[in-house]
Amino acid sequence: MTDFRLRRLTADNLHDLVKLEMRPGQEMYVAPVVQSIAEAYVNPTAWPRAIYRGDTVVGFVMANFDSENEIKAFRCGIWRLNIAADFQGQGAGYFAVEEVAREARERGFDEMTVMWVPGVYGPEGFYLRCGFVPTGEILFDEVVGIRSTEPKDLPLER
Ligand SMILES: CC(C)(COP(=O)(O)OP(=O)(O)OC[C@H]1O[C@@H](n2cnc3c(N)ncnc32)[C@H](O)[C@@H]1OP(=O)(O)O)[C@@H](O)C(=O)NCCC(=O)NCCS
Repeated sequence: MTDFRLRRLTADNLHDLVKLEMRPGQEMYVAPVVQSIAEAYVNPTAWPRAIYRGDTVVGFVMANFDSENEIKAFRCGIWRLNIAADFQGQGAGYFAVEEVAREARERGFDEMTVMWVPGVYGPEGFYLRCGFVPTGEILFDEVVGIRSTEPKDLPLER
């Protein structure tokens, strides 16, 4: 069993979230967490969560649930995902994707999307491993991926 879990953002975890650092070269693939939190503040459809391993904040995930959005890729999906450099490769990202899928199912969505910037240090391989398939659409210079919200087997524990 993993001891990952998601928690709401609070005054207690805000500083740890804002301090999260990516690996060198990854910054161009995701916005800083502080920007995402600001966007969550003004977007009522945003669903931001801290990712914990035990009592340690190891990452940040933000989904968006907006069934009325005119752009299909923005109706249900992962908006941001940042795993701290020291905690990458331990299953935190996969856990967060499955938690977003669970929340999406509870809200009645069958499919979820994500958009990523292609590139050497980018997350493409990760999202493919999580079951996303490119739709063939490019939106704002990013690849659009889609998958079912049904649970996928977690990777073996490491
Ligand atoms: C991409 C990211 C979220 C992955 O999180 P992570 O916690 O390191 O990934 P996990 O440990 O959960 O990996 C899950 C699976 O994906 C694979 N994987 C992870 N990163 C990968 C990559 N860059 N390329 C190919 N496969 C990858 C893992 O090997 C694992 O597969 P396995 O079970 O077969 O071993 C993380 O590296 C990150 O925060 N990157 C910088 C920010 C970013 O690009 N965010 C996405 C913006 S859209």
